[in-house]
Amino acid sequence: MVTVDQVLGSLKKVVDPELHKDIVSMGMIKDLSINDSKVAFTLELTTPACPFNSDIERDVRSAMASLGVKDLSMKVTARVMEGRALSMDELLPGVKNIVAVASGKGGVGKTTVSVNLALALAKTGAKVGLLDADIYGPSVPLMLGLKASPEVVNNKIQPPEVDGVKVISMGFFYEQSQQAGIYRGPIVSGIVKQFLTDVNWGELDYLIIDLPPGTGDAPLTIAQTIPITGILIVTTPQDVAMNVAVKAIGMFNKLNVPIIGVVENMSYLKCPHCNDQIYLFGQGGGKKISDDFKIPFIGEIPLHPRIREGSDTGKPAVISEPESTQANAFSKAAKVVAGRISIIAAEMKALEESEAAAAKENIQAESKKE
Ligand SMILES: Nc1ncnc2c1ncn2[C@@H]1O[C@H](COP(=O)(O)OP(=O)(O)OP(=O)(O)O)[C@@H](O)[C@H]1O
Ligand SMILES: [Mg+2]
Repeated sequence: MVTVDQVLGSLKKVVDPELHKDIVSMGMIKDLSINDSKVAFTLELTTPACPFNSDIERDVRSAMASLGVKDLSMKVTARVMEGRALSMDELLPGVKNIVAVASGKGGVGKTTVSVNLALALAKTGAKVGLLDADIYGPSVPLMLGLKASPEVVNNKIQPPEVDGVKVISMGFFYEQSQQAGIYRGPIVSGIVKQFLTDVNWGELDYLIIDLPPGTGDAPLTIAQTIPITGILIVTTPQDVAMNVAVKAIGMFNKLNVPIIGVVENMSYLKCPHCNDQIYLFGQGGGKKISDDFKIPFIGEIPLHPRIREGSDTGKPAVISEPESTQANAFSKAAKVVAGRISIIAAEMKALEESEAAAAKENIQAESKKE
């Protein structure tokens, strides 16, 4: 018969490939019980969308096998870690992570990426919201094929839900407002803040925010007023050549907002005849930015006519053609993003713990003085 110490000792050798910490220290093993030769526990992963989930599960099984455990009952669940500063909790208590999608200039596919990313995360079982912060030109409702007039219940706007994603957009309120496109940065950020506080988001693992394009007043003010976990930069190969993405990275670095990584959209065209990947605008641009600025490369999304058709007709690739190359590219990127958020959240937690420990030491030192 094995002991609890032996089981934990063996599980401690399993290291999360992304967080570089062992799964016991990370608190991923719950409800451990040993009955005769039967070992049971829950493995609680940091996100259902983790790209390494199956690796961790495999390593756990082999750790138990090498300990001689034959009767293993393992339940695998996921609880997304919170990656926001605690001081911001009042604004959105139920939202664990806020991901803002940004770009150096317009038209690079920010909304396409935001929509497909949100849907792909929801498909993994995560609770997801999508906030269209493009007050000037909201295109999220169109891309999702969603026409709605959100209800207000108990003074809170109820976000309509589509394919498991709760959505809010200025597009839903245009008819009422009649003021499209005349807002300046502070007004835009005021509306976005209202979309955070006055909308009944409930519990969310990820809230994706589709920022207005570019590095102007509006995205800047929004990024400063909301508690963002990290920024996802969308770029295109042409963009890279013109240093446009670099400008966006510089802006967010100045704001001290963590950058989740860079997604290169419209990277290549797949030849319908020979299946070759044709890099129309040169290969490796997004990767180069990621190397130069030491920010993770999230992945490449192909340039595909079906992506544009899907956007125009309200049928995003991830839902309408889930097995396609393009949908797979989005789903893969979503997993990398979720993994990156787990890392940022873990770093934030470690920082908060060390700050709390330092504060406690200070208090103890002060009280000793007295
Ligand atoms: N990978 C892709 N393949 C083909 N078409 C794409 C791809 N990504 C985006 N598009 C198309 O390019 C156009 C611009 O995309 P999108 O609206 O997502 O960009 P954006 O960065 O949000 O633009 P804006 O700055 O205006 O908000 C849309 O017509 C969209 O369907
Ligand atoms: Mg857009």
